[in-house]
Amino acid sequence: MQARIVVLPGDGIGPDVAAEAVKVLKRVGEVHGHSFTFEEGLIGGVAIDKTGSPLPDEVLAMCQASDAVLLAAVGDPKYDDPTLKVRPEQGLLGLRKGLGVFANLRPVKLYKELLHASTIKPEVLADVDFVVVRELTGGIYFGERGRKTVNGAEAAYDTLLYSVPEVERVVRLAFDLARQRRKKVTSVDKANVLESSRLWNETAERVAGEYPDVEFDSMYVDIAAMRLVRYPSVFDVMVTGNMFGDILTDEASMLVGSMGMLPSASLRGDAFGLYEPIHGSAPKYTGLNVVNPIATILSAAMLLRYSLKLEEEAAAVEAAVAAVLKQGYRTRDIAEEGKQQVGTREMGDLIADQI
Ligand code: IPM
Ligand code: MN
Repeated sequence: MQARIVVLPGDGIGPDVAAEAVKVLKRVGEVHGHSFTFEEGLIGGVAIDKTGSPLPDEVLAMCQASDAVLLAAVGDPKYDDPTLKVRPEQGLLGLRKGLGVFANLRPVKLYKELLHASTIKPEVLADVDFVVVRELTGGIYFGERGRKTVNGAEAAYDTLLYSVPEVERVVRLAFDLARQRRKKVTSVDKANVLESSRLWNETAERVAGEYPDVEFDSMYVDIAAMRLVRYPSVFDVMVTGNMFGDILTDEASMLVGSMGMLPSASLRGDAFGLYEPIHGSAPKYTGLNVVNPIATILSAAMLLRYSLKLEEEAAAVEAAVAAVLKQGYRTRDIAEEGKQQVGTREMGDLIADQI
């Protein structure tokens, strides 16, 4: 098959890990006889530096015209000043919104080889294998915000708004996903306090009625945060709003040992998707050949699965990652006494060689 893939390396270690995922995709293309073309674009701090915009119009247009987008990371400490009007993160949020990718799938799967890297007791971790479906183009990330004066003092506000159709589409996608898994959906909200959560919960319950074959429950986000580290194996598909999903998935990454292991796919119901690791740009490690490229490589596997419908190839990439971990190779974030420590590029080579 032919596919047009846009690669957005972004900031910090983004280019380091993007290069390894492209290496693996190229190998998949050679071995399985596909012709993938890769086009690079600017996003985030590097895009501001070169063009003044964190997401130049032509980059968004190029992504819209592609079959899939692979993004590595955005964020640069030189833009950390909160008073700045133009920030790298706006590029990422603008891209998600501009592409309409409303459902962000973040699978959390434990590799037995990495039990040592987790901060959680091994007996708690048995069978950790769930997916968080994070709503990605609405909620408090995109609501009205601003500053005003309240009782003579400076004040700021953000708005958490969800409409019924926004909730329905992401919850349906979560149920469809659960049908291909262990058939259980947990909707996470704060309906004991927030009106937007009460609407979320009512809507999720109604959608659940369309899926009598899938078990459904809902949980407050504080309880979900606790259960994630106490009983993580009870979860199969967790569906939640934009900010709760952001927070819970960083927490979940600690179950499996490293942020460097978690991929994601952002989908919108057709084949198109945006694929990115859940980690950030880790600026202090830029160019040092030390970070873990596996999250980005596993994101590329999700790209093969969801956008190109190449299930066999996706599974081959996942099997290659598992094999390399089994052989004892580790990047620094998952280092282990007595195992071979390798750099970013070597890890990419080892995985590509397994394909
Ligand atoms: C993520 C990141 C982003 C988010 C930031 C960089 C805007 O933390 O992808 O989880 O909050 O969505
Ligand atoms: Mn995050």
